[in-house]
Amino acid sequence: MNTGSVRVLPADGDLAEAASVLRTGGLVAFRTETVYGLGANALDARAAARIFEAKARPSFDPLITHLADAADLEPLVGPVPPAVAALASRFWPGPLTLIVDRPAGIPPIVTSGLASMAVRVPDDEHARRLIAAAGVPVAAPSANRFGQLSPTRAEHVVRGLGAAVDLVLDGGPTRCGIESTIVDARGEHPVVLRLGALPVEELAKVTGPVTVRPGSSGQPVAPGTLAAHYAPRTPLRLLPTGDGRSAAEPAPGGVRRGYLAFRDRPAPGWAAVEVLSATGDLTEAAARLFDALHRLDAAVVAEIVAEPVPETGLGRAVNDRLRRAAATWQPTG
Ligand code: TXA
Ligand code: MG
Repeated sequence: MNTGSVRVLPADGDLAEAASVLRTGGLVAFRTETVYGLGANALDARAAARIFEAKARPSFDPLITHLADAADLEPLVGPVPPAVAALASRFWPGPLTLIVDRPAGIPPIVTSGLASMAVRVPDDEHARRLIAAAGVPVAAPSANRFGQLSPTRAEHVVRGLGAAVDLVLDGGPTRCGIESTIVDARGEHPVVLRLGALPVEELAKVTGPVTVRPGSSGQPVAPGTLAAHYAPRTPLRLLPTGDGRSAAEPAPGGVRRGYLAFRDRPAPGWAAVEVLSATGDLTEAAARLFDALHRLDAAVVAEIVAEPVPETGLGRAVNDRLRRAAATWQPTG
């Protein structure tokens, strides 16, 4: 791949160099099962600071610490509440981020000064091999500029962050395509802070009823829950549920528009069309969401018109991302 100044290596090769970049304070982008992460040594405050710089991320937005194995949790953070331990044992490795108390060894910059820390064990062989080889916990947000589309392919990272990253490990497309579900299970009732790749229905099987905090008002406890986030450069308009599509015009006044469909192709006339899943499969739709938005963004259209997907299972996380992507939309002309 011709990538200008950023180095790209295959993720299934020798990871010694990548591990050494991490240990010496550098930034390595790597695949997880959800989206690509921008990793740094979580024990090194200066390395973590470089993440904020590379992403142009506000310092109030804390990072997720990644571990190679669930067995690495307690040695790092000490004993955790039973509900947290139960979720870790059921869903790790996997797309679930848990909130724990920040241990003394993790510098405050990683958690943006919070007394709590987000942590997960990714279900991705490359990611876990890399973290194990580095021998340190790895702080990693999604490897995109703050507020923009999350990367589900190495090319997205290269295009979005370029030379701000020391090394990109190309592992091909990610499996889930949407970020991890974030849960705070330290209190009496578990609270979902961010909808994500682990459906709330699955969580509830282990914890009983869960509360979903949309985070749309008050303090941004999880800025992935800021109203405007995950946004393409092109303005995105989300159609109302129901028969919203019938009223959507492909080219009002000759303006080129793109269309993001759930399962059925729209009538002709759109300059670019992406169908998330022709069989109506929400897992496939989630996996393709950001990739489809990256492509529509590249199609140079004046506006992207998007259909909501069914509001169930992974569909809730997909609609959550679409609503945030659409939050800054304003009618043109
Ligand atoms: O799937 C994922 O979670 C990906 C991959 C790379 O693991 N990571 C990811 O990181 O999505 P990021 O930084 O884009 O989103 C992390 C979210 C942010 O919205 C942040 O505010 C929230 O996690 N977060 C981190 N620490 C937190 C804490 N202590 N309490 C509440 N929210 C926290
Ligand atoms: Mg992110």
